[in-house]
Amino acid sequence: MSAWSITTPIYYVNAEPHIGHTYTTVVADTLARYHRLAGDDVFCVTGTDEHGDKIAEVAAAAGEDPRVFADRISNLFRSTWQELGLSFDRFIRTTDPDHVRAVQHVLELVHAKGDIDFREYRGLYCVGCERFLTERDMVDGLCRDHERAPEERTESNYFFRMTRYFDALGEKIEREPDWIRPARYRNEVLAMLREDSGLEDLCISRPKTRLDWGIELPFDPDYVCYVWFDALINYLAALGYPDQPGWEARWGGVEHLIAKDILKPHGVFWPCMLMAADLPLYQHLNVHGYWNVDDRKISKSLGNMVSPLKMRDKYGFDAFRYFLLRDMSFGLDSSFSEEALVTRINADLANNLGNLVSRTLNMTARFADGVVPEPDAAGPLEAGVEAAAREAAREVATRMRELEMHRALEAIFRLVDATNKYLDERAPWKAAKEPERAGEVRTTLHTCCQALRSIGLLLSPFVPDTAAEILDRVGATDALASARLPDDAERWGAVSPGTPTRKGDALFPRIELETGDA
Ligand code: MSP
Repeated sequence: MSAWSITTPIYYVNAEPHIGHTYTTVVADTLARYHRLAGDDVFCVTGTDEHGDKIAEVAAAAGEDPRVFADRISNLFRSTWQELGLSFDRFIRTTDPDHVRAVQHVLELVHAKGDIDFREYRGLYCVGCERFLTERDMVDGLCRDHERAPEERTESNYFFRMTRYFDALGEKIEREPDWIRPARYRNEVLAMLREDSGLEDLCISRPKTRLDWGIELPFDPDYVCYVWFDALINYLAALGYPDQPGWEARWGGVEHLIAKDILKPHGVFWPCMLMAADLPLYQHLNVHGYWNVDDRKISKSLGNMVSPLKMRDKYGFDAFRYFLLRDMSFGLDSSFSEEALVTRINADLANNLGNLVSRTLNMTARFADGVVPEPDAAGPLEAGVEAAAREAAREVATRMRELEMHRALEAIFRLVDATNKYLDERAPWKAAKEPERAGEVRTTLHTCCQALRSIGLLLSPFVPDTAAEILDRVGATDALASARLPDDAERWGAVSPGTPTRKGDALFPRIELETGDA
């Protein structure tokens, strides 16, 4: 049994959950479900990132205390994931007392090691923004937002001497090519570490006179911790660091999931922080691309945020999560539109999968009194379906290790296709008209019931409610409780003859796209 601790980024409480957050959270949930079924020891973490300027500003704009504001949005994230059946072993908030303790602990370690020093910083400060501006914040020498000239200011701050770890980090990346994956992001991190990238030591403090919504530095009460240094430590705190039993074992198998927007903090700051604190590095950094909506970037001003709850209400959450997992190649960008969603649901779920389930169970009701029939000896066609199940189960195991969820789903749907094709070839609706072919009909329906059990087991991490329904209809309700993937999805003959089956309604009725919907 291996340990799998799966993390999502902790989301800022300045926006409501949308398709982007939902994707990473669904991937985490799918991986967790898969590894639980594979018998691994799984610990799954998500949560919210609540400190810093950004949150203080939106709370002030809403006329609320940042704590009250953060409570509200954090609860919204938590309840959304709960309502969607995305379950986590820990929902961590950066305002939780154990997180605050973990951050102060790391700060003390790194400070004691001599990796934090106090420096004077000189820069262009905008009073409207209450912060130092970067090149990108300015147009023609004026603050982009306030259209006024920033003033030159000097401020003393604490800096994390992260650059001293760049060589060790570069060597680690060279040595373990899939540590940051897919490869394009590994190469991006290597480029960040090159001297000409301009990446310097990290300013990790903010004077309280300027911002007090943060975690106090344990070695200087006049300062709070910079929000990224604070937030990254959630991954340790959520596992029980520094003093809860078992955190080390969990930390040993940490798989971080993020999108490309936060590659630098996770690919550079975080490993340097871990090295400075003498802690082992994470297992993998898994980086996915961005969802665009109707080919445009998601933004509040465009109002194209795509609410997961609305998608659930309109199409069912399994259909939405199936689309997310099937239509994004992990690592690359992808585009969402309701038209693409409906096309995908109709083609894969209503036609392919839905038809196989309804044809098999309707004919089992009609020709076999609604129970899994006793088969005759299997022939080459039956052996072909069994082989397809074996191949699907093995390929899913390989693809899940590589985080190629869309490829895992393709493999499962090859089994669905093979079974549909087998059913067409055997055509039991015709054979049933000839009494001497009764044995063939029984064998055919028996084979399809076995295939449905394999399909149900394999689909379970991806579309859990649908999979449970398929297993229930085929009389394999308890299969999930004791199943071990991938082996159990290959086990043929596990639904015994005589087991009652149930027809039920269409799993996914075909959807007509309303005009103006897309
Ligand atoms: N609070 C930081 C993360 C700290 S982790 C120690 C943050 N929060 S965020 O709310 O902006 O979330 C960013 C993450 O949300 C992305 O990395 C990704 O997981 C998800 N997504 C948000 N928008 C997205 C898309 N449009 N597409 C895909 N995922 C994106 O950054």
